[in-house]
Amino acid sequence: KTKERNVLPLLKERLPKHHFELLTMAGELGNKLNVAVYVVGGFVRDLLLGRKNLDLDLVVEGDGIAFAKKLAHRLGGRVRQHTKFKTAIIIYTNAAGEEERLDVATARLEYYEQPASLPTVELSSIKMDLYRRDFTINALAIQLSHDKFGKLIDFFGAQKDIRDKLIRVLHSLSFVEDPTRILRAIRFETRFEFTIGPQTTKLIKNALQLKLVTKLSGSRVLHELQAIFNEVSPYQSLARMQEFGALEAIHPALTLSPTKSKILKEVEKVVEWYRMLYTQPSPEPWVIYLLGLTSASKAEEVEEVLERLHFTPKQYNDFMSLRETVKTVANTLGKVRPDAYSHLYNLLVSIPLEGVLYMMARTKSETIKKNISHFLAYLRTTTLDITGADLQLLGFAPGPIFGEVLRKTLWAKLDEKVKTRQEQLDFAYRMLKARQ
Ligand code: CTP
Repeated sequence: KTKERNVLPLLKERLPKHHFELLTMAGELGNKLNVAVYVVGGFVRDLLLGRKNLDLDLVVEGDGIAFAKKLAHRLGGRVRQHTKFKTAIIIYTNAAGEEERLDVATARLEYYEQPASLPTVELSSIKMDLYRRDFTINALAIQLSHDKFGKLIDFFGAQKDIRDKLIRVLHSLSFVEDPTRILRAIRFETRFEFTIGPQTTKLIKNALQLKLVTKLSGSRVLHELQAIFNEVSPYQSLARMQEFGALEAIHPALTLSPTKSKILKEVEKVVEWYRMLYTQPSPEPWVIYLLGLTSASKAEEVEEVLERLHFTPKQYNDFMSLRETVKTVANTLGKVRPDAYSHLYNLLVSIPLEGVLYMMARTKSETIKKNISHFLAYLRTTTLDITGADLQLLGFAPGPIFGEVLRKTLWAKLDEKVKTRQEQLDFAYRMLKARQ
């Protein structure tokens, strides 16, 4: 019915030369070994959507591990294999000297018993492989081998769903098989500005009624939440989770209130602002969002949430103490004298970046916002131009006093009382001399 589509022109136009050649090479190897090879999943989806994605996932109809070893050899790379799942990761260094990874999976041949006395049918294994996936838009493949390089494989109407901007599951048991797909559906809906289809919406509601999200393991929920918080607009996904009752299903304390929503929208703005300005160090957004989501809760309730999310003891301690720190320091930040940057520095320097950004999101004071911004832009990276070795050259004996003097010299530099290296030396010299 549907016209066969070849996306070779699209691949040529959109892919860097290296990635195009890699796909060509995989196809040629498939021909030589007489196994069909496909590139599948998110890469194909994003190609059709015109979004950048260079994560290549290959599926081989045949021995995927043997294929991966041969391809790795041609690329001068190595293979990490998972025999049980018949998958492999090829790790190699590209022409630019960067390490790249390439996933290779095996599409198993499956035999389906037919009712009555009909013969058992063998389904094309790529079709079965794709059928097991989460949503139609992720169940696309491009054939690379057997003179069909670039042939788009769309068994389940993914192209139509992309046109209609729909997230749809492939079969009615999809969320029962894997309830994390509920959160994935919401995440993709937000990311692509798609809508979850009506039947799929019913299946999500049904799965929530069956308490499938409540029963999910903490680490799987945390992993999906982290993925949501790493996206550009997490708040929209949170609001959608609330609509479905999915936040409540994880833990009632996570439910949104108007106040919490306001806080989370601010968090989103601050995270976006930070990402625009700085690439390093990068915060863990999930920590900031979780501070916001639990902002209305008492400590005992937060403890329950963290247990629900299967926090490790270290994650647990870090989070609870960050929560406390943020509360205390936020109160002091308003009292920093405008000329006392060293004071501001000392308040913020030992707080994890996530806490600093959270305070920025929470404060209503423009002065505090400005202070935090100044800390991030300037203070936190300020270093001295002298070291202990310089103090030794001035004739002083090293000891704990060096640490103290250097620290105070740094504060003087932050407060712009000393600027040049010479001024710093003089400052430290006077302090050491006075202590002798
Ligand atoms: N998948 C699935 N069910 C899940 C998770 C993943 O069926 N619970 C399938 C999807 O079809 C997906 C593939 O496994 O295409 C790989 O998943 P993932 O690594 O999450 O990749 P992407 O779909 O590319 O998502 P992203 O763009 O966020 O990386």
